[in-house]
Amino acid sequence: MGLPTALLLAKGGFRVKGYDIDTDKIQLLQNHILPFEEKGLETLFQEASKNFSVSEILEPSDVFIITVPTPLSDDKSCEMSYINSAIQKVKHVLRDGNLVVLESTVSPGTTTSIVKPILDETQKQYLLSYVSEKAIPGNTIYEMQHNHRIIGGIDQESAEKTKEIYAHFVESPIHLTDTTTAETVKLLENTYRDVNIALANEIAKRLAIQNIDAWEAIRLANFHPRVNLHQPGPGVGGHCIPIDPWFLSSDDTPLMKQSRIINDSMPRYVVGLAESLIKEKKNPIVVLLGVSYKGDVDDDRESPSYTIKKICEQKEMKVRLYDPNIKGNPEVLTDLSIATKDADCLILITDHSIFPDIDPLSITNMCQKNIVDTRDMIDSEKWSDAGFNVKVLGT
Ligand SMILES: NC(=O)c1ccc[n+]([C@@H]2O[C@H](COP(=O)([O-])OP(=O)(O)OC[C@H]3O[C@@H](n4cnc5c(N)ncnc54)[C@H](O)[C@@H]3O)[C@@H](O)[C@H]2O)c1
Repeated sequence: MGLPTALLLAKGGFRVKGYDIDTDKIQLLQNHILPFEEKGLETLFQEASKNFSVSEILEPSDVFIITVPTPLSDDKSCEMSYINSAIQKVKHVLRDGNLVVLESTVSPGTTTSIVKPILDETQKQYLLSYVSEKAIPGNTIYEMQHNHRIIGGIDQESAEKTKEIYAHFVESPIHLTDTTTAETVKLLENTYRDVNIALANEIAKRLAIQNIDAWEAIRLANFHPRVNLHQPGPGVGGHCIPIDPWFLSSDDTPLMKQSRIINDSMPRYVVGLAESLIKEKKNPIVVLLGVSYKGDVDDDRESPSYTIKKICEQKEMKVRLYDPNIKGNPEVLTDLSIATKDADCLILITDHSIFPDIDPLSITNMCQKNIVDTRDMIDSEKWSDAGFNVKVLGT
């Protein structure tokens, strides 16, 4: 999130310095090499280059925007060490009149109860805000400019000042509130999606018991003007949905926690579907079609494919990963015919738009012909005619 935000601000006319503890990233950027791929980032990098530089040292500035990671800790709370370390660094260069903006996803109350007390130790007069991010990998730059923005300030002046800065590149409405509400809104957005995906997954499991096609039932139910059921799948991946709902859930409000548990149970359920197809064989070979957590991107963070791989390996299956979108990872094959050689089962995991185009007749080198489709993407009849045993999740 940090790099696209920095570049958009630089393009918007600010002089922006990117600071990161990862010196490899700094060196890449100093050599004009982007550390990751994202649609439009290359062009933006060129357009912003006049105003953008990077540094291994955090220097005094007028505005500090913090976009450090906030992963899930072992007890499912928000891991705060990156934020604590970043705020300590800002504290040492903070001057009167500075604005500090936290963008990392956090538990409600973090800005006022953790960030502010550390900055208060400086006894400087500063402004402080929370701005949530909701850009999707593959369309990050467009969404950063076109999604509504929620900005929370510790006071009106902080919120207004932050709005003034973000308005240099945000073209949609910017809504002002307090920091805790802004932090919560970010969590609500992902919790909404997680709970709805959990409902779709539970529907898929339930309807499969009676061989009812969940995809068709959901499609038809969604013609109701007030119904918007989500799609089932092999589990939830990415940097936000599998993590953020934990920052809100509690034992007293079980729906959010239960939804996390249901979605986390899907990889094991999917492996069970594969097991039901594979005939007796020691160490069968399973090929996972798709490693990225969502279709047509190369982002594999928190991907259910890795969980499914682990579960298969615990059951002494051999696993091959196939994903033409993931480049430069020696563990991931990009040639389908190499992936399928002597394999016993394919599991379609990621909804890459190229997968329905795979011709089952072109796959001639498998040992047993089985396929589990967790996205209802393939033409089951065509694959059956080509000799495959087909199992579609939720049918
Ligand atoms: N990626 C997304 O799609 C997305 C969307 C919305 C919100 N977020 C949130 O934004 C935050 C950042 O996510 P990201 O995907 O950009 O993470 P990232 O891991 O891609 O980038 C974070 C960067 O922070 C650096 N860093 C760590 N500690 C630091 C420190 N003390 N000082 C300076 N730099 C430090 C890391 O080296 C890394 O380069 C997280 O809280 C995440 O939940 C991400």
